[in-house]
Amino acid sequence: MASANRGQWSGKTAFILAAAGSAIGLGNIWRFPYTAGENGGGAFVLLYLGFVLLVGIPVILAELAIGRKTEKNPVGAFKALVPDSLWPYLGGLGVATGFGILAFYAVLAGWTLSYLYGAVTGIYGGVMTAAESQALFEHLIGDPTLTIILTGAFILLTILVVRKGVSGGIELTTKILMPVLLVILLILAVRSVTLPGGMDGLVYLFKPDFSKINGVVIMSALGQALFSLSLGMGAMITYGSYFPKTENIFQAGIAVALFDTLIAVLAGIIIFPALFSVGVAPDSGPGLVFVVLPSIFGSLPAGQLFAIAFYALLSIAALTSTISLLEVVVAYFVDEKGWTRNKASWLLGSLCFVLAVPSALSSGGAAMFTDFLGTGMDFLSINNIIWGNYSLSIGAIMLCVFVGWKWGIPAALESLESSGHKLPSSKGLGILIKYVCPVAVGIVLVYIVVTQQYF
Ligand code: PHE
Repeated sequence: MASANRGQWSGKTAFILAAAGSAIGLGNIWRFPYTAGENGGGAFVLLYLGFVLLVGIPVILAELAIGRKTEKNPVGAFKALVPDSLWPYLGGLGVATGFGILAFYAVLAGWTLSYLYGAVTGIYGGVMTAAESQALFEHLIGDPTLTIILTGAFILLTILVVRKGVSGGIELTTKILMPVLLVILLILAVRSVTLPGGMDGLVYLFKPDFSKINGVVIMSALGQALFSLSLGMGAMITYGSYFPKTENIFQAGIAVALFDTLIAVLAGIIIFPALFSVGVAPDSGPGLVFVVLPSIFGSLPAGQLFAIAFYALLSIAALTSTISLLEVVVAYFVDEKGWTRNKASWLLGSLCFVLAVPSALSSGGAAMFTDFLGTGMDFLSINNIIWGNYSLSIGAIMLCVFVGWKWGIPAALESLESSGHKLPSSKGLGILIKYVCPVAVGIVLVYIVVTQQYF
């Protein structure tokens, strides 16, 4: 039995906001636009939407079914369902992945704080050339002290929320931040599409050019869907474990997936018209929101306000995601090791900060992490490959194998329908979880192993 003092969301809406807070993050606002831009725009977006429906929604429901049934963290959940098996190690991989992702994600999140500060103090409000913007960015990410402090600050914010627990910390924070985020997004989207020449950006984003589709585009679209929906590591098992027994969980899960997708598309609607309006190529890569946008803000009317709103948005989105990453790890130590939430939050958060330092130093701060062990890759990118690519893919495949073939679709359906609400198409869901999802993610995994190209 789950202990009564684990905490619970106050209702369906609270869950949707918290889980959408986990899903909506740098993945939507930073990664989605540059990945779409690098992979041909509309065709990528179409594939992405298809994968959200065919893979994202089934996997999110599979995770939620496990969490709701067991009311446990990922390790405890597998222990409860199949004791004396190796399955709890899959939960262990999820907990390790939460830690691994947090240790590099917090570095990127720290950059957003610096940009927010810069926007407030007016650095990005003035006219800036592309070269000046690039120099500012490199100066920031290459400054060892600053990047470490920013990473630490972000992890500290995360600890302060997670230590307060499910309803007093995560729910309260996401209930305030998610509506703020939505309002900022909508204002920015209206601003962006009304820019002169902005329409061309929308055409690029929504008009598919099918000749652009190739292996990399397909793999990137599916990888982006997994990462963006926080799948494959038990975040949704954990958040689902706090779901009130009487409410409709599959409806809530689908709402989270749609909400996340809507925000990614909205981020695209903000960024591409802005790019096209000033004639910047959409395939500028990961520097898009940190290098390209600042040089655009300066040339826009009310550019400083635009910049403040945008980087506030990015910081908020990142925070509600780091909260879920730490929560998975904390829930494990609270449930399985009997730690208090306060102790688990501080100790594990601090340990994560220490492990994040090499990533913070890997963009110029220290040569040994910038080209790690002669791989030609920096430490942060290597961590993204290990945790963000391999581990999430393996986790998602194994999770489908577990739910589809070991625990069984009927048991998963019973958990999803235990509040008395019936799923519209339970047969379709079974086929997706048993066959479509593991095969699709399996192909992506083979693809990244063979080609060494990552999403
Ligand atoms: N989904 C988050 C984002 O898009 C990242 C994340 C991945 C969070 C996995 C939790 C678990 O930014």
